[in-house]
Amino acid sequence: MQLIPAPRAIDGPTRGAVLFDRSTPVWAGPGTETTERWLRSTLGPALGLPFPAGPKDAPGGLRLLVDDSLEPEAYRLTAVPHAGVEIRGGDAAGVFWGAQTLRQLLGPDAFRRAPVRPGATLGIPSQVIEDAPRFRWRGLMLDVARHFMPKDGVLRYLDLMAAHKLNVLHLHLTDDQGWRIEIKRYPRLTEVGSWRARTKFGHRASPLWEEKPHGGHYTQDDIREIVAYAAERHIAVVPEIDVPGHSQAAIAAYPELGNTDVIAASMAGGTALSVWDNWGISSNVLAPTDNTLRFYEGVFEEVLELFPGEFVHIGGDECPKDQWRRSAVAQARIEELGLADEDELQAWFIGHFDKWLSARGRRLIGWDEILEGGLAEGAAVSSWRGYAGGIAAARAGHDVVMCPEQFVYLDHRQDAGADEPVPIGHVRTLEDVYRFEPVPAQLTDEEAGHVIGTQANVWTEVMEDQGRVDYQTFPRLAAFAEVAWSALPAPQERDFADFDRRMAVAHYRRLDALGVAYRPPTGPWPWQKRPGVLGRPLEGPPPNR
Ligand code: ACM
Repeated sequence: MQLIPAPRAIDGPTRGAVLFDRSTPVWAGPGTETTERWLRSTLGPALGLPFPAGPKDAPGGLRLLVDDSLEPEAYRLTAVPHAGVEIRGGDAAGVFWGAQTLRQLLGPDAFRRAPVRPGATLGIPSQVIEDAPRFRWRGLMLDVARHFMPKDGVLRYLDLMAAHKLNVLHLHLTDDQGWRIEIKRYPRLTEVGSWRARTKFGHRASPLWEEKPHGGHYTQDDIREIVAYAAERHIAVVPEIDVPGHSQAAIAAYPELGNTDVIAASMAGGTALSVWDNWGISSNVLAPTDNTLRFYEGVFEEVLELFPGEFVHIGGDECPKDQWRRSAVAQARIEELGLADEDELQAWFIGHFDKWLSARGRRLIGWDEILEGGLAEGAAVSSWRGYAGGIAAARAGHDVVMCPEQFVYLDHRQDAGADEPVPIGHVRTLEDVYRFEPVPAQLTDEEAGHVIGTQANVWTEVMEDQGRVDYQTFPRLAAFAEVAWSALPAPQERDFADFDRRMAVAHYRRLDALGVAYRPPTGPWPWQKRPGVLGRPLEGPPPNR
């Protein structure tokens, strides 16, 4: 039935169909309330089907139930003519993912906001679908710091994720170029830190500037709404507050967070930095002082109140050590703590928040640089600089989310042609993403068990609005969703032609109905194709990023 992501097994379709019309009743068993609400708020309005409540055994009806003999997130969808459609989930999430499959079976109009043919009779061919996810962390990271995505855009992405059975939204909330979350006790983080005066247009070596202010932030009520909207769709939201690097916006708001002795020496006595207007890695990093630790504990206290999930991301990537080398304060700290060097100072900084979060029943996750100083039990790693960090983490017994930039950084261009908009990074085609394998072959089965999932990362330096985010993210996110959900064979054996065919006959039409401004499938056509990334050595850092 052209399902994306592909399910584990389909028996059928055989002759006959279940017919849905305005009178089709729904019976929602205990624990299926999120799906029942979604049917009435989203699927029903798309098709003009009211889904009135009915008895469990109504012939031709839709039945939702939790059956804990199935795995968590698994479901079985059974369509039997005259009897009706039953979705049985291992838990509430499984029922919800089964409903997402039902939506695909109902055709592309089921993805609209309003019906084209209200209340038309729709047929669901007789069949049984058995399905369960490969990974429990099927993530998308949105960088809302480099370019702000207003709340409605985030809610829209949660709907797009749900339609692809993705279940973790990682929000990159802070960076050198902007601070995007209201922290009540530190109002200047958003008053000052959420606006920059202008923006570099293109990659960092570009001569072009957009000479207008850019900014925005989420209030705490916005965050509560995002988290609740996600929870209704069985999506966890993981907040990222990036420390100790990528922090210039915070330092612009509260200069004492910075290495003031170094900054004053280089700025003729002044210590006031601006929110950064360029891309790259700022040398202005947090000062390793008690004041900084207490300040960020205050930030994290508010963050924990807003985000109830297990994981909190503390960044930890790309922290240049130059200021710490030159700062008398940082050097005194190294000596006082008996550390060997600035790398150990970073490990001490991360370790502080690792213990602080563990003491509050949460788990720290950070970019793979955090491995360099040793981690507390329970901490997890986002492996972004290729597979190596993830392999080391899994071997050390830490959980890993695989998101190597060589495959799943969706800011990278999708084609080598000169007409790709703002073409940064390596070429990463739809097929490259489809052939991405999250579990490296070097790992033993036990180590591989630590790869809890995978994530596609949408860095937004070159994505100034929703249309650009859509273009970079789709259609590649559909391929990524199949990698994360479906039990695909080894990369070389994957049937990309079949995936491409399902995209062509069904999924682009679903994306059209959802209003997604995806990159159109203009080629390269099969006879023009370059070998996929598997056929090429992995390159080093991408150009122009
Ligand atoms: C990263 O791309 N700096 C995590």
